[in-house]
Amino acid sequence: MEKLVDIRKVYKIYNPGENEVRALDGVTLGIDHGEFIAIVGHSGSGKSTLMNMLGCLDTPSEGSYFLDGEDVSTLSDDELSEIRNKEIGFVFQGFNLIPSLDAIENVELPLIYRGLSKDERRRLATEALERVGLGNRLRHRPMQMSGGQQQRVAIARAIAAKPPVILADEPTGNLDSKSGKDVMRILNELWHEGRTVILITHDNEIANSARRIVKIIDGKIVSDVINDKVPESPARLANHTL
Ligand SMILES: Nc1ncnc2c1ncn2[C@@H]1O[C@H](COP(=O)(O)OP(=O)(O)OP(=O)(O)O)[C@@H](O)[C@H]1O
Ligand SMILES: [Mg+2]
Repeated sequence: MEKLVDIRKVYKIYNPGENEVRALDGVTLGIDHGEFIAIVGHSGSGKSTLMNMLGCLDTPSEGSYFLDGEDVSTLSDDELSEIRNKEIGFVFQGFNLIPSLDAIENVELPLIYRGLSKDERRRLATEALERVGLGNRLRHRPMQMSGGQQQRVAIARAIAAKPPVILADEPTGNLDSKSGKDVMRILNELWHEGRTVILITHDNEIANSARRIVKIIDGKIVSDVINDKVPESPARLANHTL
């Protein structure tokens, strides 16, 4: 099968010239379907820049990016947003929930862009919220929930449409350790089902939950290892990745 992510010699250069910042400095990275990969690095190392690239939220200054065999470095904004909608569920550090909407409405929102009927949206949103243990909080607004619960709503929103790829930027960054563990357990389950999970973090301990760990310093990948403490997912072993 085609690689899911195939990034070659990608550069992201801000302020070209004397004060240029090479946020990504010649990154080459391949990710297979069904991998659980952590990208770890200090603040300013280029993690979010890479995440934006991987998630088709940004385009490289130089280099190529094939997502599932398709050259995405040349696509228009509309085409990129269509791919994002279909392929990728995003989980952001700051949750990014809409305060005036309750849990189920927040989860339903992105489903609108997929052209689903109201009933279907409600069904998928309810299912996703139950999945993350929030079946009893469907009608709570973000303000009426704990940080851990809000992050779980954000995860439900990311997985409701059942995208094959989950892209999470510091998903545990704002959480206490118990809520952080809940979030990592959910990501692990999604991986075991055959999804690809890409986790961005500055925290080595969190990164150790992933099967593969890539370290980034100053926009460059400096190591890329398989973490033997995390056994391969059942889905990958059975060749049942999504
Ligand atoms: N729009 C921009 N213009 C100029 N420089 C930028 C811009 N965005 C990011 N940078 C620089 O690019 C580098 C990488 O930034 P990035 O946000 O990817 O880091 P990060 O690893 O996500 O850090 P953090 O852990 O703090 O979120 C930093 O040195 C940053 O200052
Ligand atoms: Mg960042």
